[in-house]
Amino acid sequence: MHAMKRIVILISGRGSNMEAIMRSMAAEQWPAQIAAVISNKASASGLQTAQAAGIPTKVLEHRAYPDREAFDAALSAAIDYFEADLVVLAGFMRILTPGFVHHFQGRLLNIHPSLLPSFPGLDTHQQAIDAGVKLHGATVHFVTPVLDHGPIIAQAAVPVLEDDTEALLAARVLQQEHQIYPRAVRDIIEGKVWLDGDRVRRRDTSTH
Ligand code: GRF
Repeated sequence: MHAMKRIVILISGRGSNMEAIMRSMAAEQWPAQIAAVISNKASASGLQTAQAAGIPTKVLEHRAYPDREAFDAALSAAIDYFEADLVVLAGFMRILTPGFVHHFQGRLLNIHPSLLPSFPGLDTHQQAIDAGVKLHGATVHFVTPVLDHGPIIAQAAVPVLEDDTEALLAARVLQQEHQIYPRAVRDIIEGKVWLDGDRVRRRDTSTH
């Protein structure tokens, strides 16, 4: 195990959660480094952000692989190459195979833009508006083979307002994502939070 924890971040798009993690890591001087950012899309704009920060990037186009198993095998080999202690899914729009999830069990995190277990899947903000819920939000969780499911590490709630649009609500949730995801990653890096079977354990920090 490295003294500096090695984080590999997987993205498919703009990577604002990745950026929030990069920013907190630098500002708070975590004992960690981003070993690589990997995308399944060459067009992901977050790749440029990572490169500009001097972080190694890699593109693995899922279309280049015959099936999900083959892609996930290549992806897990790429992550292992960078000796990841922690794998952070940050807008990575791929369903992962059970084999992949199992390989990274306890060190694979995701953020989902809803208060799970409500609204797994896509279009969560529209789903929340359509359902008429008064509270919506975001969830950081350990990944299990079930999509958008798994032991919950952190959640943040935002109000759904009378005349909300999908875009307004998404922006309000995203602000919260940028708060809770870096915090959760830091807590895991520092050993304050961990997965124990199917429960999240937290070291008592009430004395701080
Ligand atoms: C976020 O809302 C995340 O929760 C969802 O996809 C979006 C990714 O945004 N899974 P970004 O790429 O981190 O900016």
